[in-house]
Amino acid sequence: MSKKYPLTMTVNDESVELSVTTHKTLLEVLREDMNLTGTKHGCELGECGVCTVLVNGKPVLSCLMLAPRAHNAEIKTIEGLAEGPILDQLQSAFCKYGAAQCGYCTPAMLLTAKALIERDTTPTVQHIQKELSGVLCRCTGYLSIINAVGSVCGLGDNCTDNLNA
Ligand code: FES
Ligand code: FES
Repeated sequence: MSKKYPLTMTVNDESVELSVTTHKTLLEVLREDMNLTGTKHGCELGECGVCTVLVNGKPVLSCLMLAPRAHNAEIKTIEGLAEGPILDQLQSAFCKYGAAQCGYCTPAMLLTAKALIERDTTPTVQHIQKELSGVLCRCTGYLSIINAVGSVCGLGDNCTDNLNA
């Protein structure tokens, strides 16, 4: 039987103490040990980006991070983005712009955009496109997602009109 180790993290502003085997990834701990299934399970190879969560404010592929490396870290998952019943402005914009279809990429898109906006409140549309490019969306064609993020950043309703200008 694999040995277990204590793991202390802050997840969505709450301190948690767990006991995990060293081979478990942060993705597995969030989904299986904490039932935070908003973080999606995709390729597990670091290619699709849908497992992205924020670790100490930065987007991280949780499928590639062994859980013990998150000891004492601050984790934000999609479950922690809204303030109770009040949606984050990015979530509201995704609703307004129809930026989610199947929704599988949406948690990762939102968290990646959140980290970008917290770093840079006035990104260009090209910057938004580049930041989100690590998360694969099989449904939307990306334009509605980028327009939603752009609207929150003061770039107007259809900032992707400027992408090929
Ligand atoms: S599940 Fe695809 S990058 Fe993590
Ligand atoms: S909305 Fe379906 S993968 Fe992006």
